[in-house]
Amino acid sequence: MDPIDRLREDLIEAGTFGRIPPERVERYDQLDPQKGITRPTGTEANKKFRDYAVERMKEAGLAVTVDNIGNIFGKKEGFKNTKGTVMFGSHADSVTNGGMFDGSLGVFGAIEAMRRINEEGFENERPLEVVIFTGEEGSAFKQTLLGSSVLTGKTKLQQALGMKNDEAITLEESLKNIGYHGASLRGLDDIEYMVELHVEQGPILSKENMPIGIVENITGIAWLMVTIAGQENHAGTTPMKMRKDALVAASEIISFVNKRANDMVNELGASTVGTVGKLNVFPNGTNIVPGRVEMGIDVRDVNKENMENLKNETLEIIKRIEEKYGVDAEIQMPITHNPVPLSQEVADIIEKSAKQIGISSKRMNSGAGHDSQNMAEKVKTGMIFVPSINGISHSPMEWTDWEDIKKGAKVLTQALKNLSRQKK
Ligand code: HGY
Ligand code: MN
Ligand code: MN
Repeated sequence: MDPIDRLREDLIEAGTFGRIPPERVERYDQLDPQKGITRPTGTEANKKFRDYAVERMKEAGLAVTVDNIGNIFGKKEGFKNTKGTVMFGSHADSVTNGGMFDGSLGVFGAIEAMRRINEEGFENERPLEVVIFTGEEGSAFKQTLLGSSVLTGKTKLQQALGMKNDEAITLEESLKNIGYHGASLRGLDDIEYMVELHVEQGPILSKENMPIGIVENITGIAWLMVTIAGQENHAGTTPMKMRKDALVAASEIISFVNKRANDMVNELGASTVGTVGKLNVFPNGTNIVPGRVEMGIDVRDVNKENMENLKNETLEIIKRIEEKYGVDAEIQMPITHNPVPLSQEVADIIEKSAKQIGISSKRMNSGAGHDSQNMAEKVKTGMIFVPSINGISHSPMEWTDWEDIKKGAKVLTQALKNLSRQKK
């Protein structure tokens, strides 16, 4: 089988896990905005994705292990095992109603690269190791980049295992339920490099007709999970001046986040973005003054100061709004991920690798978060991007042309070969 057909088959098959009904989507014109991928950590779909990937890893001759935060590893020893490991892969989970390539491309692209390296009889000097991270999206347990945060020691294992999803099931139970709660944590001491292949999730490559992006910086991400408690009451009988409307209070926060981020872009030329993407209104009835609102606020920038400023200004506004509307706001702040520069050495090797096989590339930043930003704080890390049609992602309409996927897999394979022979 042509290698692209094999990778294509894996991505299409994995794209049935978490899609209802589990249809195979092979072309852009088959996408349906109502039928995306929902594969948060601990779900049946998440288990199926993991099981399918583990089968493929074993077929490729990799020694598979699972750590106790559910990260999966598949290792091929090198002929000089004294040198640091090259790790590569992406994440198993998805957002709610997301696309079929986010995370999946990096996982199956990594497995495909391993297969090609085996078939070509290429002798890797350094160990090569596929990684599949747990809970990158924060869609089940409310912290992004969870598996890599624990792996790199940013988040304590016990704290992460105790986190609860919307059904009040802990991560530990969830991992046990799907059979991915391993015995111990993997250390990082033997790892020297990390590479992640991913869809860009933005418009730049597609607009410029450029097949490959090489990431130089990854955005920082701060989440504020806010619960506003007002007074639930009758919409007809409660005078306007006697209300504690949690949704009206929330709406002012939403407007602030959007307006302030826009102002920062206009005034500073900053790359700041601010979003309120999650909102639960209780009890959610047309004739009831909303008594409680849960909201998820997402603030980002590749510039740490801008990100911190918007985060802190939002916290101040929330305090003022508590007074203004007589509501109480409880704020939970999962760990803030700092913006991180990736390794110039790895970026140079990716660039050289693309050139060697006649594929053009450009350097760029990532506005999406990735486990690679945690890894970059510990090991030399690089990312390879392929174009996202119309820059759409975290949406069922996310798509990347098979030709671009082929190029991404080729560049990854070549970069792994070069890294495996890297002298340092
Ligand atoms: O960017 C994100 O929100 C996620 O971590 N991929
Ligand atoms: Mn994502
Ligand atoms: Mn992703």
